[in-house]
Amino acid sequence: MRTQVAIIGSGPSGLLLGQLLTEAGIDNVILDRVGKDYILGRVRAGVLEEGTVRLLDRAKSGARLHAEGLPHDGFSLAFDGRDHRIDLHGLTGGKRVVIYGQTEVTRDLMARREESGAPVIYNAANVQPHGFDGETPYLTYEKDGMSHRIDCDFIAGCDGFHGVSRKSVPEKAVRSFEKVYPFGWLGVLADVTPVDHELIYANHPRGFALCSMRSMARSRYYIQCPLDEKVEDWSDDRFWDELRRRLPVHHAEALTTAPSFEKSIAPLRSFVAEPMRFGRLFLVGDAAHIVPPTGAKGLNLAASDVYYLFSGLAEHYHDCSNAGLDAYSAHALARVWKAVRFSWWMTTMMHRFPDTGDFDQKIQEAELDYLTHSLAASTALAENYVGLPF
Ligand code: APR
Ligand code: PHB
Repeated sequence: MRTQVAIIGSGPSGLLLGQLLTEAGIDNVILDRVGKDYILGRVRAGVLEEGTVRLLDRAKSGARLHAEGLPHDGFSLAFDGRDHRIDLHGLTGGKRVVIYGQTEVTRDLMARREESGAPVIYNAANVQPHGFDGETPYLTYEKDGMSHRIDCDFIAGCDGFHGVSRKSVPEKAVRSFEKVYPFGWLGVLADVTPVDHELIYANHPRGFALCSMRSMARSRYYIQCPLDEKVEDWSDDRFWDELRRRLPVHHAEALTTAPSFEKSIAPLRSFVAEPMRFGRLFLVGDAAHIVPPTGAKGLNLAASDVYYLFSGLAEHYHDCSNAGLDAYSAHALARVWKAVRFSWWMTTMMHRFPDTGDFDQKIQEAELDYLTHSLAASTALAENYVGLPF
């Protein structure tokens, strides 16, 4: 088989890139090592920046998001027993975010892909990129006991943190930057009305908590927990009790509970691989970088990578110019590092670190106090939260 762009990975990065290319008349094939249901079973964050929404619209995958997504004009920081609202809309000159689960974004992109008739090869085993340092790259993979080959012009590595793309690059060609945080997030999904109509990020002496939602009937809650904690040790009652203790009293009293239908622990990490281009192989999204979920930047960063790569590919095919492709890594990384910084900063400000001494604790309190009383500081938070431009 031959295509113009071979895409490894059918997560949000691969599907969004594939759909933008298809809409622009550029031939592409997506391969994933697992099946559709497995991909749709993953629970991830759900805060979309306006730039992400714009791209989903451009990929003709935004209709349900506009009908069902919840536009949010602000969120709360809770500490010291009270809430402080960050007025995103007022502080950014009218910007907002949309609450819409990443699983739904993926579902909409898959549906659009199917409508367009463009190919996705699920359950492709042993996908391997080859020849990307020359002019004639290709992929090999196995399916149903047969070996296959796809020749292409470019390979997009949209295969997440554990994918094969980054690992195929010679070790000495990649520089990695990593920070692992000494705690995880224990998250639950439950069909209950959210405790508040906006998100609440809480810093409490017992640890961080986040009240989020998927709709006005489905809530997503998280609490910071030690890394060695086991999900089996967390009954629903234990989770709800711990969440209540970390929230200001008026929210704790308003919390409605129900049996959870998803419960999992995720570690927190910051990671960046540089560069994001190796000849005709481009890394996109989680394949190149990971951020801790505080601030929900993961999916939005994947979207800006996709935008830069799509623009470069469109320029290559439509305008016979490689300027966009040559600038891809530098453009993408400039935005990536700012989001990595923001996610690290918000994580540091909102969590309790096991080895924090009195001095560091006082600094954290001063930071929160400054942030909530300074227009300049609140504006910087809001500007980053709604997403830097791309
Ligand atoms: N071969 C083929 N496909 C692979 C391979 C492989 N060797 N390894 C991984 N994949 C597939 C996975 O099965 C998955 O469907 O690549 C896809 C990667 O998807 P994601 O991990 O969702 O990564 P990405 O699309 O970049 O998503 C970015 O989603 O995970 C969040 O935090 C992330 O929010 C961010 C956004
Ligand atoms: C979520 O809804 O899962 C979510 C929201 C905001 C975050 C992280 C996760 O910062």
